[in-house]
Amino acid sequence: MHNHRSTTVPPTRAATGGTGPAGPCRPHDVYVLSEDESRLLDGIAVEVSTAYDTVEDPRFIADARLFAQRLPLGLRRWIEQVRLSADLGSFRIRGHRLRDADLPPTPPDFEREPARPALAPEVCLVLFGVLLGDVFGWETQQAGRLVHDIVPSEQEQKSQTSASSAVELGWHTEDAFHPYRADYLGLACVRNPDRVPTTLAELRSLELSERTRSVLSQPRFHQRPDTSHSPTGSDDVGAWSDPPLARVLSGMAGSRSLCVDADFTVVADDEDMEAEAALEELKREIESRLGDLVLEPGDYLFLDNQRCVHGRRPFRARFDGTDRWLKRVSVTRDLRRMAEAGVTATKRTARAVLAS
Ligand SMILES: [Fe+2]
Repeated sequence: MHNHRSTTVPPTRAATGGTGPAGPCRPHDVYVLSEDESRLLDGIAVEVSTAYDTVEDPRFIADARLFAQRLPLGLRRWIEQVRLSADLGSFRIRGHRLRDADLPPTPPDFEREPARPALAPEVCLVLFGVLLGDVFGWETQQAGRLVHDIVPSEQEQKSQTSASSAVELGWHTEDAFHPYRADYLGLACVRNPDRVPTTLAELRSLELSERTRSVLSQPRFHQRPDTSHSPTGSDDVGAWSDPPLARVLSGMAGSRSLCVDADFTVVADDEDMEAEAALEELKREIESRLGDLVLEPGDYLFLDNQRCVHGRRPFRARFDGTDRWLKRVSVTRDLRRMAEAGVTATKRTARAVLAS
């Protein structure tokens, strides 16, 4: 049997009701790979790298779920459990033994050309992701690739994008502005020598008044597009400045999903003081619950994009090939509903701006 270790961490500080500084944050469930399981992953990754040009190869994407069926049974069973969990907001797979010497230098920007042979972490990230849904990318991000590189870029040091380093990347729902944003984000850690923390707060740990939940569940807000998507190529740039009315919470008592960005969610009507107060209460509550999580090489973190917000602490980037390097993949639970964004089974890149 596998050596699955489920960490049953109580909801963050909910039990004590404390409001002190956030302690170390752990996802509420972790699967630790055995050495045998780690070797099995490497074997599948080598096979994929031999059979396909890159992880971007459409033939690999078409076959990915078939390869995923050969992942260790214990791991597949655990992923099925977390996929069906009632309120889990994040979960992590650990213990894939990566040898830093076998990995290329951290690219100075996202990799223009996908790696060949594909790196084991990116192959595994896709295989884990397809057990949760279907992977997709964006026309306006990283040249439409499905597997993104999260690396510090010298030009973007102070931006509010994942290429930043010198500033805190504020907590957010990924692509909060987009109706077809990912249901899950998967992050694979290739290297993180300075132990730069990812930040995380889960919906289920938030304590909000009933009135605040009700106001946040009404369409009284705008989700402004963040700056990680370039509107280049869009013939409807106006759509970026005129976002529709949006809710921040959905579901019964706002418990099903959360969609909010510390910097880009705003109240629609300047004079709507009640909505302003509710948004402020939510922001304060998220700040008080926000915890740090340090990803290590061989870690895979999945964020449920409806049940948690995430960000990253600031750090001093090196720009010398040894910087923090994550691989990222977006997963939808329902590929069909993304047709409106131009996504099909064989064309996995979504349009950021939808035709009106
Ligand atoms: Fe993000």
